[in-house]
Order: sequence, then C-alpha cells, then structure tokens
Amino acid sequence: MMKKIGLFYVVLVFFAGLAGAQESKSGIQAILSHYAARNFTAGAVDREDLDQILLAGIHSPSANNRQPWMFTVVQSSALARQIVSNNEDGNVLIVISAEGDGRTNGTQILDCALAAQSMYLAAQALGYGSRIYTGPINSVNQNLKTQLGLPAGHSAVVLVRVGRVQNNVDAQTAASARAAVNTKVQYK
Ligand SMILES: Cc1cc2nc3c(=O)[nH]c(=O)nc-3n(C[C@H](O)[C@H](O)[C@H](O)COP(=O)(O)O)c2cc1C
Repeated sequence: MMKKIGLFYVVLVFFAGLAGAQESKSGIQAILSHYAARNFTAGAVDREDLDQILLAGIHSPSANNRQPWMFTVVQSSALARQIVSNNEDGNVLIVISAEGDGRTNGTQILDCALAAQSMYLAAQALGYGSRIYTGPINSVNQNLKTQLGLPAGHSAVVLVRVGRVQNNVDAQTAASARAAVNTKVQYK
C-alpha cells in the first residue's frame, strides 16, 4: 500500500513539473506572439475572463507599490463608442486613470502603462483581441470624466480595448514588423 502511495506521489510530482514548464512556455509565447487587434467583432467578453484580465492589472508592479490606478470598465456600447468610434458591441474598454492630469507624473504614467500591458497580454492569453489606446485620452479627460465616474482628481492615462476577434487573423498575419534585435539592443 505504502509503495503504491509513493509511486502515485512520484507520478504526481513529475506531471506537476511538466505542467509548470508548460506554463512558463505559454507565458513567453503570449509575450512574443501578441499583436494589437484591428479586426474586433461583436460578441461578449465572458465575465470570468474579464475578472482575470482585471486581476492581471491589479497584480501589476508599481513604483513603491503605490498602485495609483483606477480601472474603469466601460461595458455600455453607447459610452464606449464616444471613446473609440468603431467599438463593437461587447467590446470592453478599460480606462486606466490616476491622480493628476494624466500627462506629467512620470512614475504614475509608467505604472498605468505597465497595468495596461498586463491586461493587454492577459486578454490575448485568454484568446481575445486587445489593443492599447492613448489617442482618445485627451478627449476623455476633457469631456467624459464625469460620465465615467473617475475618482476625484483622477485623469485617464491610457485605455485597453478587449473583445472578440476574427479567429482566422493571427499574430503571423496581423502583427507589424519589429526592428531587428541588433538595432535595438546593445551590450557594453
Ligand atoms: C502607448 C500606446 C498607445 C497607443 N495608442 C493607440 C491609439 O490611440 N490608437 C490605435 O489605433 N492604436 C494605438 N496603439 C496601438 C499601436 O499602434 C500598436 O500596438 C503598434 O502599432 C504595434 O502594432 P502590432 O502589435 O500590430 O504590431 C497604441 C499602443 C501603445 C503601446
């Protein structure tokens, strides 16, 4: 009996090890295969997935762990279209705001940018399309702060759009080219 339990334990540890290796591989794959979705389609983002995406934002690092952000989840199509005019029904906009004018506090902007990247990647790891936007931010801050219910003193910094995409468009066909490594990396 003890032998059987021992064998079971060894098999369990072996497969847990394999699972761990697979997880880290899918992490690097998600980072290397992302692209900014262009072909969003209508269709809901499942609530559980949205919770996971937001959790990825919540887990982001920030300077001195200040976590200066508020994530305002825009699910209303009418409101979302005021921000991103071609927003499809079911696409979700996550507006990331922080105290200040949204432009001058460098550390907070970096913090919000990291949260944006975490949520952008999490969405794609879960099979959704995602895209980061700063283009609409000035207009959001001028016209929509009250409608969005941003916390007092906050301004929007960046937003992440999450939604369904056409399944036949993948990273190979949709990602723009990146510079060659040797033009962007130097060793001293
Ligand atoms: C900080 C930041 C701001 C961006 N703002 C916009 C935007 O306002 N509108 C837009 O369509 N895409 C925006 N993008 C998406 C970029 O254009 C896209 O990530 C980039 O061109 C790479 O595209 P690819 O992933 O398809 O290669 C933004 C991306 C980042 C990182």
